Amino acid sequence: MKPLSQAVASVPPSGIRRFFDVAAQLEDCISLGVGEPDFVTPWHIREAAIWAIEKGFTTYTSNYGLFTLRQRIASHLKARYGVDYSPESEIIVTVGVSEGLDIAMRALLNPGDEVIFFEPSYVSYAPCVLFAGGKPVPVPTDYRQGFQPDVHRLREAITPRTKAVLLCYPNNPTGAVASRAALEEVVRIAVEHDLYLITDEIYDRLVYDTQHTCVASLPGAAERTILLGGFSKSYAMTGWRIGYACAPAQIIEMMMKVHQYTMLCAPIAAQKAAEEALERGEPEVERMRREYDRRRRLIVERLNEIGLECVPPQGAFYVFPSIRCTGLRSEEFTEQLLWEERVAVVPGNVFGNSGEGHVRLSYATSLPKIEEALHRIERFVNKRRK
Ligand SMILES: Cc1ncc(COP(=O)(O)O)c(C=O)c1O
Repeated sequence: MKPLSQAVASVPPSGIRRFFDVAAQLEDCISLGVGEPDFVTPWHIREAAIWAIEKGFTTYTSNYGLFTLRQRIASHLKARYGVDYSPESEIIVTVGVSEGLDIAMRALLNPGDEVIFFEPSYVSYAPCVLFAGGKPVPVPTDYRQGFQPDVHRLREAITPRTKAVLLCYPNNPTGAVASRAALEEVVRIAVEHDLYLITDEIYDRLVYDTQHTCVASLPGAAERTILLGGFSKSYAMTGWRIGYACAPAQIIEMMMKVHQYTMLCAPIAAQKAAEEALERGEPEVERMRREYDRRRRLIVERLNEIGLECVPPQGAFYVFPSIRCTGLRSEEFTEQLLWEERVAVVPGNVFGNSGEGHVRLSYATSLPKIEEALHRIERFVNKRRK
């Protein structure tokens, strides 16, 4: 048989799933592994989809998505961040941010084009760049600087082949929220070197004690930015597979072509549900955000007590503590914790080399489970403290 695709073969399967699958089979295992809200989609949003199906909304939609949904996305972004996107030509509804990322890469990249992103990073970034024929260029960030984007290292990573910088704030896996000043500097660099910016803002609504900066709202950014947004995290809608991309019309037109021939459109019932989420979902977003914040405070305080030092994350629902006090590598820590104490966390190195020496814990799980998991982690760490 002829060999299969080299680009696909070169990418390992996601390290997160592996731990999740093992954990799911272990009795009495507490998983702090997956990045998925433990809340069910708020009832009024589910009801909107049920209503839509009952009324016979069962067809394809425009390739760009329902116009009414695009209008709501435009008003929502205008009201929150002051950014202007035309629902006619500058917004496309996608099958989650996952699809948005894929079609953004395929619309932007020619073979060998380089895409820089800060690391530790979400596991899909390097594979998406590779699948689109590009070259991923990870730039490490430092725990001691709170995983803020390092603009000096960014400058050093730029070559004549650099096409885009991919940003993710609030960040998965670190929970870092980039300062406005750092993002302004990134935009200045992008303008100076004529680079595109792809900004994955899926966690924009999950910020604590700080404000989210929408990259496209910064001076000079909008014309070169693809803004990716979604419903999975803020509205607890992971299973609906719905998100959106906003960019200048000529970029959306290119993304639409890939979407049109590969996906056609996002599911209509999910689009109806997303309209309801934007229309009346705000109190539920705030309720969930407050609950995550409560858990965040507890987990950060307890981890620091245990000796797993962590910078308080200001966004998303992850903490990324250092495990150096145990002398273990990330994978050793994770394996041993899973078998000995039945707690699943994700080894930091799956998010890139600079994640080594850390693990990711998700606090998108109930407070009693988090408390029990921390108790087990404490017992585990005490046996190994150097
Ligand atoms: C940073 C980041 N981007 C994108 C996604 C995928 O989002 P969606 O469910 O909208 O495809 C995730 C999911 O974990 C994520 O953490």
